[in-house]
Amino acid sequence: MAEVIAGFGVSHIPALGVAMEGDGTGPAAAVFEKFAPVREWVRSLELDTVIVIYNDHASSFSLELLPTFAIGAAEAYAPADEGYGARNVPVAQGDADLSWHLIESVIPEGFDLAVAQKLDVDHGLTVPLTVLFGAPPEWPVKIVPLEVNVVQQPTPSAQRCLDLGAAIGRAIASFPGGTRVGVVGTGGMSHQLQGRRAGHINSEFDRMFLTDIVDNPRRLAKLSNTDLIQEAGSEGAELVMWLVMRGALGDNVTEVHSAYHVPVSNTAAGLVAIDNRTATR
Ligand code: DHB
Ligand code: FE
Repeated sequence: MAEVIAGFGVSHIPALGVAMEGDGTGPAAAVFEKFAPVREWVRSLELDTVIVIYNDHASSFSLELLPTFAIGAAEAYAPADEGYGARNVPVAQGDADLSWHLIESVIPEGFDLAVAQKLDVDHGLTVPLTVLFGAPPEWPVKIVPLEVNVVQQPTPSAQRCLDLGAAIGRAIASFPGGTRVGVVGTGGMSHQLQGRRAGHINSEFDRMFLTDIVDNPRRLAKLSNTDLIQEAGSEGAELVMWLVMRGALGDNVTEVHSAYHVPVSNTAAGLVAIDNRTATR
């Protein structure tokens, strides 16, 4: 059966993608230094497929049509044109068999995902891939994208996100074959890009979140959407996507790497890497 090998929480700030594509010198050197060790660990895991829980930024969806949860079930996902042309990164190859297995597993359990058989993916998905894999000519893994609405209220609750992740974790454990799966929760950390609190950063909250996402996700799942917006900012509330990732892992996981850098662009950037091979369920 397939196995969840590791989980990652990764910011998706566009400027972070630029920093990680570079040679590690210049103004980006500090964040490069903090984040680069994870790439080595990721390479050693020999993952086959990565499920990326991300939000779309009005690239493939819009306020006219915005699923609460949507899963990609395509053979490939092209980088989206966000207004300046598509990011110069590879087309992500899909793992459509795993996508359909997840769809057929979690919808009957009560998680009514929308299914996208065509989906262009924006920085919400591609920047975390750059952080984890650098700038190769082809991504070394297949992808299953899972979009979450963190843009238009009401967004799904932290508890619902953790529960969806748990359903995904159970589904992976019943997928025939030996697929080595990574799960990536994207977004955050604290930031607010608009309104009177634009520039809001809450390092104390972020550091608590980085610790609890590993050891105490059930406590994070008790946060309301209002709590999340107050603490992490209106855009920082996208951290609920890390809870989908965490739900797919078991208890007694091992933190391998945790890093935090303020600011990248207007945002607190975080990265956590979790080994699920020590987990119990
Ligand atoms: C920034 C952060 C985001 O989460 C995003 O989607 C776009 C931009 C930023 O800090 O620049
Ligand atoms: Fe964002």
